[in-house]
Amino acid sequence: MRGEATAARTARELRTLLDPMRSRGERIGFVPTMGALHEGHMSLVRGSMEECDRTVASIFVNPAQFGPGEDFDRYPRDEETDLEKLRGAGVDLVFLPSEEEIYGCGFRTFIEVEGISERLCGAVRKGHFRGVATVVWKLLALTNPERVYFGAKDAQQLVVIRRMVQDLGGPWTVRSLPTAREPDGLALSSRNRYLGAAERAAAPALHRALAEAKWRIEGGERETAAVVAAATETLAAEPLVRVEYVEAVRLADLEPPDRLEGDLLLAGAIRIGKTRLIDNLCLRVGESVEEILP
Ligand code: PAF
Repeated sequence: MRGEATAARTARELRTLLDPMRSRGERIGFVPTMGALHEGHMSLVRGSMEECDRTVASIFVNPAQFGPGEDFDRYPRDEETDLEKLRGAGVDLVFLPSEEEIYGCGFRTFIEVEGISERLCGAVRKGHFRGVATVVWKLLALTNPERVYFGAKDAQQLVVIRRMVQDLGGPWTVRSLPTAREPDGLALSSRNRYLGAAERAAAPALHRALAEAKWRIEGGERETAAVVAAATETLAAEPLVRVEYVEAVRLADLEPPDRLEGDLLLAGAIRIGKTRLIDNLCLRVGESVEEILP
């Protein structure tokens, strides 16, 4: 079933369009986005369309997940192009709320997922995951889908959202799908468009560093510090890169393990010029080493 990407700008319009689908018993899949859609987002849309009867996408650049001095004002916004892509893919509904629609009427309620929100990106982007958790809960409450889709590139976001949905008893199934990459390994991101030519050439160093860490683990290395040092060294060879963090942590609680065993997240964040990029690899380390989804 292919939809026409009908736009809903208010919660009331969204409900009016979703109610008949629900009363026909159709399974609804939801892809929340901040727009500037790329192939990574479109792979989530395709995943939803394969698994559900109807697909709803949202486009909302969420001010609550940007800190002071971050790129909220210059975050790319191109509603027409995004709508064209969603129409072309056959999405049924697109929710395009205003800030007032999400945070109006004296909004005061925020969701704090403790501990895991302060690790990795959360250590640098204070309050970021509070903003993410709050908006995702609100969007889920408004769309009430069977399934919601997120990209593995934002692995920490996935860990935080799964924890929130489990702790607060949300009835939604959280699905993750693989990171979409350029041929040279760079993870697709709406922020890649900020990169100049030399910066773009340097950017795949992050994926190379994480691949190096994985290669060490496949070779039998189980010391966290040795694996992190190998990845950091790969990044140090790229003069345009400033490392924010590189870590090997347990997927469950994002804390560094004594030994590299079980389900792990190799994660990194770098800055190239004014652009901040993140990436990760998620591994199940036992007798063999297998890539898994967060
Ligand atoms: O991953 C994103 O694009 C955003 O963090 C999300 C999930 C749409 C919440 O604003």
